[in-house]
Amino acid sequence: MSAAASRYPSLHARSIADPEGFWREAARAIDWIEEGARVFDPALGIYGRWFPGWTTNVCHNAVDRHAEGGRGGQPAIFYDSPVAGAQRSVTYAELKDEVSLLAGVLRELGVGKGDRVVIYMPMIPEAVFAMLACARIGAVHSVVFGGFAAAELASRIEDAQPKVVLSASCGIEPSRLVQYKPLLDLALTMAKHRPEACLIFQRPQVEAKLVAGRDHDWATRCAQARAAGTRADCVPVEATDPLYILYTSGTTGKPKGVVRDSGGYMVALRWSMEGLYDVRPGEVYWSASDIGWVVGHSYIIYAPLLTGCTTVLYEGKPVGTPDAGAFWRVIEQYKVAALFTAPTALRAIKKEDPKGRLMGAYDRSSLRTLFLAGERADPDTVEWAKARLGVPVVDHWWQTERGWAIAGNPVGLGALPIRVGSTGVPMPGYQVDILDEGGHPVGPDRMGSIAIKLPLPPGCLPTLWRQDERFRESYLVDFPGYYKTADAGFTDANGQLFIMGRTDDIINVAGHRLSTGGMEEVLAAHADVAECAVIGIHDELKGEVPCGFVVLKAGVARSPADIEAEIVALVRERIGPVAAFRLAITVNRLPKTRSGKILRGTMKKIADAEPWNMPATIDDPAALDEIAAALGARGLAKVTAA
Ligand code: COA
Ligand code: AMP
Repeated sequence: MSAAASRYPSLHARSIADPEGFWREAARAIDWIEEGARVFDPALGIYGRWFPGWTTNVCHNAVDRHAEGGRGGQPAIFYDSPVAGAQRSVTYAELKDEVSLLAGVLRELGVGKGDRVVIYMPMIPEAVFAMLACARIGAVHSVVFGGFAAAELASRIEDAQPKVVLSASCGIEPSRLVQYKPLLDLALTMAKHRPEACLIFQRPQVEAKLVAGRDHDWATRCAQARAAGTRADCVPVEATDPLYILYTSGTTGKPKGVVRDSGGYMVALRWSMEGLYDVRPGEVYWSASDIGWVVGHSYIIYAPLLTGCTTVLYEGKPVGTPDAGAFWRVIEQYKVAALFTAPTALRAIKKEDPKGRLMGAYDRSSLRTLFLAGERADPDTVEWAKARLGVPVVDHWWQTERGWAIAGNPVGLGALPIRVGSTGVPMPGYQVDILDEGGHPVGPDRMGSIAIKLPLPPGCLPTLWRQDERFRESYLVDFPGYYKTADAGFTDANGQLFIMGRTDDIINVAGHRLSTGGMEEVLAAHADVAECAVIGIHDELKGEVPCGFVVLKAGVARSPADIEAEIVALVRERIGPVAAFRLAITVNRLPKTRSGKILRGTMKKIADAEPWNMPATIDDPAALDEIAAALGARGLAKVTAA
């Protein structure tokens, strides 16, 4: 289709020229208790607020309105867990029953509007009930991904100060059971904040020990509530009230608490389901992500349910559970119309089944589009998927700070001819500019910092949790009038966006966002380490993996190999297995500029076998040769200075 035949150009132009009119119209798809006079007030909040004075309830829109509006018997959730050997379908009527019951239990535990609830759970239906139960009573949930270690959970508990923590006895990884309860107990000894209660869902695989006086058994409390007829109804909240806090990596070890509001988020998500993903009420939508990530919040839970779709909750991997045909089996079984996953998942499948033999074994005729996000989609993988699957493959650009895509190919408006390698065009309300160091827009095909003109559209973060100043400093100070995305890239002459990498120390490992600064804090805490640098190096499967260089303190006589093994274990213990930190290399010194800045960028180029130039300000050029030699000794560096 040509750009002219798509509704996108006029629609995007209108969203910029008349944002209030555009989003007021989109807001008609949402049930409101009261509508405010204005759609956007630039005088409120840090850069303005969407839908001030509008009241609503997110759980009503995601659950009750469908349960009562003719979709009660339609599945809301298809839970599919090859790792637990379980499958379950939950209708909208059953979802309402479960969520109102659990919301009643939360009430009994003292949770009210505005209170925070930390949810540390695997991909099971109860985790979805938990999030929706919070939304029902106006509590603010904060989901913590299961692959994080106790210390990361502790820092989130300390920041969010939850009244109650919801958890389960275990998560199931193909290679092991992840016992959540000991991690939670440890986190609660580390955090200064003490929640009043923990509600623990016992899975059959592991029975968690409950702490008397603090821990409650989920099933018992729900059974008691059911017998007593305890339920909680949807409470009205302001559209500007927070629905959740989701922590993401910043440039230090202290994660950023991204705040998501209630009203603008619903409006943007609901628009995106039809406009971007081309999915209608009643259809099956599958986001093969995790509820611990933003994509899981938005596209496993809220967007499909707000739209009256059936969402697939898949507790498994793309490969190994049991094989590289798992995704295609799920598509056939549930008649999935759109699949959203990370390129790394496709690379894993391609590696195991390059000819797509297992793909051919399943009926994929329901699938109309495959969406990719979370990391750069390499053209090889995109072309492979397109050719094998025979459906359009749409790469779209995401960040946790936004609850939905910044750019993509709006298939629902009529797909645009997007070049492979591009993440498409800005979504409605997003005005994306490429800026030079002085903050001036550059022309097409020129690399720069990618910035979004303020105000951000609905669905984006209004601030960081109780850290307005950090929000301003992180995102708004560098380019006045803009929001700094910390991604670098360019647009072509047709306005298509190309994302080339981060401008900060964030790396992307198997679609997971991680801070190398946070890892350096862990390395530096080892008693024998004098200084260190962590960089992300190219990996065929995961896109990037972290690699740590350490200089040992003078006089340390222990074997470097032992220390390296301890460092690897330390990162796993402090940050978690999700960091995938397996490579620590001891060197005599780190390459630095004359002013003492570590040359991480050049080190990365050496490791990635990319051509590099000797930095003019380098203190001693031989230090880079030493890095190349150290990497070479591990079979990692191939190219020398240009
Ligand atoms: N709970 C506990 N541990 C977890 C976990 C969870 N929810 N998720 C991952 N881990 C662990 C893994 O078991 C692994 O542990 P190990 O070191 O003991 O093997 C470690 O964290 C690293 O995991 P990962 O980087 O995911 O590697 P993997 O080899 O297990 O799997 C892929 C590789 C590509 C199959 C997998 O990363 C994947 O499916 N990625 C897609 C990610 C995605 O969808 N992201 C969302 C963006 S939209
Ligand atoms: P997260 O906040 O975990 O969603 O990670 C956001 C970061 O992932 C972005 O800043 C990008 O660097 C990267 N990213 C997300 N989607 C894409 C994409 N489609 N192409 C390239 N990079 C992406």
